[in-house]
Amino acid sequence: MSDSQVRTAGGDTIRSLHADLPVNATFHIWLKATKPGIQGSLSFSNVRGKFGEVSVANAEEHEFRIFHVFGGGSVELDYDTDQTSVSVAYWFAADVLETGITVLHTNPGNAPPNIPDSYHFRPPFGWMNDPNGFGRFGGRPHLFYQHYSHGLRWNTMHWGHAVSSDYLRWRHMPIFLFPSEDLTARPDRRGGAYSGSAIPLADGPGIRVFFTEQVQDRIPEQQIQLTATSSDLIMAGNAEVILPYRPLDEGLTSDFRDPYVFKGPDGLWKMLLGSQSDEGGVVLLYETHDHTAATGWTYIGKLLVEKSYRTTAIECPCMLPLDGPATDPATRWVLILGLMNGEDQSTRRKNLTVAVVGWFDGQTFAKEFEQELDFGTDNYAFQAFVDGDAIVGIGWLANWVDTGSEIDFPTAMTLPRNIRLSAGALHTPPIGAAESLRSHILDRTRLAAGEQVTFVNGAVEILFEFEKPGAHFQLKLNHPTVRLDVVLDDEGLAICHEDGGAAQSPHYIAKGARPKRLRIFLDYGSIEVFADHGRWAGTKRISGFEPIQSARLIAEPGAVLHATVWALKP
Ligand code: FRU
Repeated sequence: MSDSQVRTAGGDTIRSLHADLPVNATFHIWLKATKPGIQGSLSFSNVRGKFGEVSVANAEEHEFRIFHVFGGGSVELDYDTDQTSVSVAYWFAADVLETGITVLHTNPGNAPPNIPDSYHFRPPFGWMNDPNGFGRFGGRPHLFYQHYSHGLRWNTMHWGHAVSSDYLRWRHMPIFLFPSEDLTARPDRRGGAYSGSAIPLADGPGIRVFFTEQVQDRIPEQQIQLTATSSDLIMAGNAEVILPYRPLDEGLTSDFRDPYVFKGPDGLWKMLLGSQSDEGGVVLLYETHDHTAATGWTYIGKLLVEKSYRTTAIECPCMLPLDGPATDPATRWVLILGLMNGEDQSTRRKNLTVAVVGWFDGQTFAKEFEQELDFGTDNYAFQAFVDGDAIVGIGWLANWVDTGSEIDFPTAMTLPRNIRLSAGALHTPPIGAAESLRSHILDRTRLAAGEQVTFVNGAVEILFEFEKPGAHFQLKLNHPTVRLDVVLDDEGLAICHEDGGAAQSPHYIAKGARPKRLRIFLDYGSIEVFADHGRWAGTKRISGFEPIQSARLIAEPGAVLHATVWALKP
């Protein structure tokens, strides 16, 4: 990245961005005029001089421009900061799936944190929430996500996009899906391209995505469902409406969102949507006989009503066959849902995500049992798919409770996790490849002996096991601003997190948990606790990017079987 500012003899402040381009490069640039009535512009030049320009009259909002440079070589992008404000500039070539985008410019209002040792997925700039369209397409894992490029607060939603080969190391892709024109022109938090999912294109390479378009105060429907396709996996084509209305006579609020499309046991495409009725949060089921999933979506009924915790709407439902093929009636399915505004009053935890296990015949769901997906609550809008013979999922490492329209709030995704059924309970361990993050061992004796272990940076994995399940312990983690402990006592397994805020901290606890083996991932701004191979999982965002500096394990003498601490490397 080269971004230099030069004051010219004339007194104008010219900023120059430099790019060394292969042939056929595409620039995405968002710019605006600094004052009404003037024109903002950015010019492209090479050794032979200026060869192009993008310009804008809008002084309210950054407008999007595309510019192609065919010849390749060394190119300067110049603009006068007295007249022009540039929010984001990046370029990419036709091989972007292999090479990623090159970001040339962000600004203090949307820049990502400078934490090169961090190993959790973050956007290259701007705000991020839910994972969307998580899947393997054209052989590679793709992650799309709720995104706003120009600030670190939620605003008009786009879909950001990244590609990986191992779910851990991601290449950033161009913005995949844009909100409709009128929303882009008025980014005053009215909506955009909300959450959804992706399936492979039926006829040919590429994907079909499904998403909710939200337009605040639109009558009669604020939220409607759209679909778009992309054959190159780089940008979505034009979107078409597939569900313009909520189902009639179901007493639903205007919540009608987050389409999750998957193959049902009968081989038909099914769609789940989250909504709310008088009875509580609801999951709606649709299906289509169209093998392309483009048309024919028909309402089947309410798949599930969730009355617990005074939940309002259900958000981001997702559903997967758990212990056998989708087509086998004996196979159990897991239905995962975000409980918007729900509060567990005994612990003060809000917006929990629950996993309901049962049988799905294509039309109805018979519940067997229900479990919290994550006792730490900061694994929201979890989305998963079947990848070969394993389920892989990922969540937003945050909770709406901690966000605000007045605070910048950069976020990450959780570590990707598998989902398995084992001994009558759901397990969500980190994917096997997470071991590849281990750089070197920091300790194999001191933690077990109750001594302090100091870390070299904020990226750490701690693994320890006890002689017997349920042995009480306290893992004290030393963070400069937050009191942080992982504790096991008679009540259960808890993440104790006190950040000195006015409100009393929720009690992040897996009640009754009696694990034997703990695997804990620390990163700049997060802790993830996996007990007994994911039988209990707890994820908590930590505000800011200060590293956790050291750890000490307090337990009965002789209780610890072994303990290892690794430094991690992305
Ligand atoms: C969940 C959610 C979704 C919605 C999206 C908007 O976190 O509220 O229901 O589609 O975020 O960004």
